Amino acid sequence: IHNIIFSNSVTASISVAHEIADLIKKKQAEGKKCVLGLATGSSPVKVYDELVRMHKEEGLSFKNVITFNLDEYYPMEKQDIQSYWYFMHEHLFNHIDIPKENINIPNGTVSHDELEAYCANYDKKIQDCGGIDFQLLGIGRTGHIGFNEPGSNRNSGTRIITLDHITRADAAETFHGIDNVPRQAITMGIRTVLKAHRIVLLAWGSSKASIVAKAVEGDITPEVPSSYLQLHENTTFVLDEEASSDLI
Ligand code: F6R
Repeated sequence: IHNIIFSNSVTASISVAHEIADLIKKKQAEGKKCVLGLATGSSPVKVYDELVRMHKEEGLSFKNVITFNLDEYYPMEKQDIQSYWYFMHEHLFNHIDIPKENINIPNGTVSHDELEAYCANYDKKIQDCGGIDFQLLGIGRTGHIGFNEPGSNRNSGTRIITLDHITRADAAETFHGIDNVPRQAITMGIRTVLKAHRIVLLAWGSSKASIVAKAVEGDITPEVPSSYLQLHENTTFVLDEEASSDLI
């Protein structure tokens, strides 16, 4: 894992957005699709802002882009304002020219009976697109990436998972109380994420400092699922000074 530390999250996010834009343009020039793995939450918001700005002001086109989001609460309706489907449309998809059929977000309304087949098919669809070229990640205070909570296996694929109490507590404000936070989610697996050709993890603020240090410098363990990223040869942690403050 390489670490890049920026003085603040705005300049850091702009630099990540530019890496994504350069990749999209390179693939365009080659006449190829660009497959992006995307995250929600507070960490990537400024990256999406910059991508939208580049689309509006510089004509960056997303016509050749295919996206796969990491996760969605379960159960969850798309139109619910707490859904990740809603988040992605609000922050990115409604403002760019990506073809609707190129957008993939785990469906929080799939019935229990269909879940297993649905999740297996999500991974297959990623593979059929040639795999993820660029995967954007945040990190939870439990050490999760996507919603791969502590205990997640290195070989896990897309699946249903029970959310950690800390994760639900962190989401309580958005849901106006922890009792309203769903207990489960659909998440891409660790194996799914590690197959990406390039991974960039974003972390801002002092609340992420200790888990960032464990992920980067600690043992590779299921107890800190983000530590599996040490096994990936093209991963960068993009941090602000606060999030990097516990690194040796
Ligand atoms: C969201 C996701 C999560 C978040 C993580 C950090 O799609 O996969 O792993 O990235 O919970 O959330 P924020 O950025 O809100 O601190």
